[in-house]
Amino acid sequence: MTAPAVAAAPGRATAYVDPVAIERNCALLKGRLEAADLCAVVKADGYGHGATTAGTAAVAGGATWLAVATAAEAADLRRDGVGERILVMGALTRAELGLALEADADVVAWRTGFARLAGELASAARPARLHVKLDTGMGRLGTRDPDEARQVAALAHAAETLEMAGLMTHLATADDRESRFFDEQLRRFTPLAEEFRRLYPGCLVHAANSAAVLRSRAAHFDMGRCGIAIYGLDPFGEDAAARGLEPALSLHSYVADVKELDRGDTVGYGRTWVAPAATCVAVLPIGYGDGYRRGLSNAADVLIGGRRRPVVGTVSMDNIAVDVGPRTDVRAGDRATLIGAQGGERVSAEELARILNTINYEVTCGISPRVPRVPAPG
Ligand SMILES: Cc1ncc(COP(=O)(O)O)c(C=O)c1O
Repeated sequence: MTAPAVAAAPGRATAYVDPVAIERNCALLKGRLEAADLCAVVKADGYGHGATTAGTAAVAGGATWLAVATAAEAADLRRDGVGERILVMGALTRAELGLALEADADVVAWRTGFARLAGELASAARPARLHVKLDTGMGRLGTRDPDEARQVAALAHAAETLEMAGLMTHLATADDRESRFFDEQLRRFTPLAEEFRRLYPGCLVHAANSAAVLRSRAAHFDMGRCGIAIYGLDPFGEDAAARGLEPALSLHSYVADVKELDRGDTVGYGRTWVAPAATCVAVLPIGYGDGYRRGLSNAADVLIGGRRRPVVGTVSMDNIAVDVGPRTDVRAGDRATLIGAQGGERVSAEELARILNTINYEVTCGISPRVPRVPAPG
C-alpha cells in the first residue's frame, strides 16, 4: 500500500505549532541583532501560538528576555516555569502592577506617580525594575516630554525600592519602508538614549520591533523586541520565506462530507454562492467560531489533496464549504489545510490578511480558544 500524499486530518479544527520553527526564527533574528539582546514578544498568547510554547522555543533560539502586554500574561509564564526576564509593556492599574511585581516582571513607567507607586509596592530586597518610556511619535504609552522621562529615571535611580532598568520607545512606521517618520523617531530618541547610558550604567536601551530589527541597525540599541517575526510571519506583510523566516503555525480541518450539487444549487446562509455548473462541495467543520473569519466567504482558498479549492458561500460559525469540482477524488476524512502547506501549495497568513484587508498579526491572534494548539508532528 502506498502512503497517502497528505497525512490524516487531526480533528475538526486544529492548529499545529512548530516550536523548532520559532527557535530557528529567533536564531536568525539574534544573528541580525549581533551583540544586542533578543526579547521575544509573546503577548496575546504568543500571537495565537501559545505563550509558553513560543517563549520556551524563543529562549532555545537565543532570546534572553520575553515581553507581554499584561500582568496576568507575566504571571501565567511564571506559573509555567519561565525563569527569564519578563517585561510587561502595557499600562497597569494598581492591582495589575502588584501582580506584575509579584511575578518578578520589569514594568514600563513614564509618570512619577506611577514610579512612586511601584516603589511603595516593592521592597529594597526586591526592587521594582522600571523601563522609562519616551513617546517619540507613536502617540500611545510613554511621555512626550524628555524632562518628564528624566524625572522618572532620577526617581527610579534614587529610590532603594526601585531600579532604573531601561529606556524605551516604540516605532510607528518601521514596517513602511517609504515612511521617513521611522528616522524621525530615532532622531528624537537617540540623544536621551545616549544621556541615560552615561547617567545610568547598565540601563538597557530598546526601540525596535521585528520590522525595525530587519530594517535598520540604527534601531537595534541594546535589545530588539520581536513579535511577529519570531512566529515566521512577515512584518512587512510580504513573503516571510524571502527573509528566511519559517511560519510556525498551520491550521487544519477535515472533510466531514462531500455532496453533489446541480447547476443553480446554493450553499450557506444568504445563498451568496450559486453553483454555476454541476459540481461537488466538501463541507469542513470549521468556521468563524474558530477564528476563520466571515470575510473569507467566497474569497479564500483551502488546500485539500495538495490543491487549492475555493471557499464557496458564507463562512458560518462552525462550518464552511469548498468547491472541489465535479467527479472529485476528494473524500470524507481528507485533511483540509486553511493556513499552511500541502504538497507544493501554501496558503499563508499574509494571503488571508490581504483578503481581509488586515495584517497577519490579526489572522493568528484571531484563531479562537476553541482550536487546540498542538505540537506539529515531526
Ligand atoms: C511595545 C511593543 N514592542 C514590540 C512589539 C513587537 O512588535 P512586532 O510584533 O511587530 O515585532 C509590540 C507589539 O505590538 C509592542 O507593542
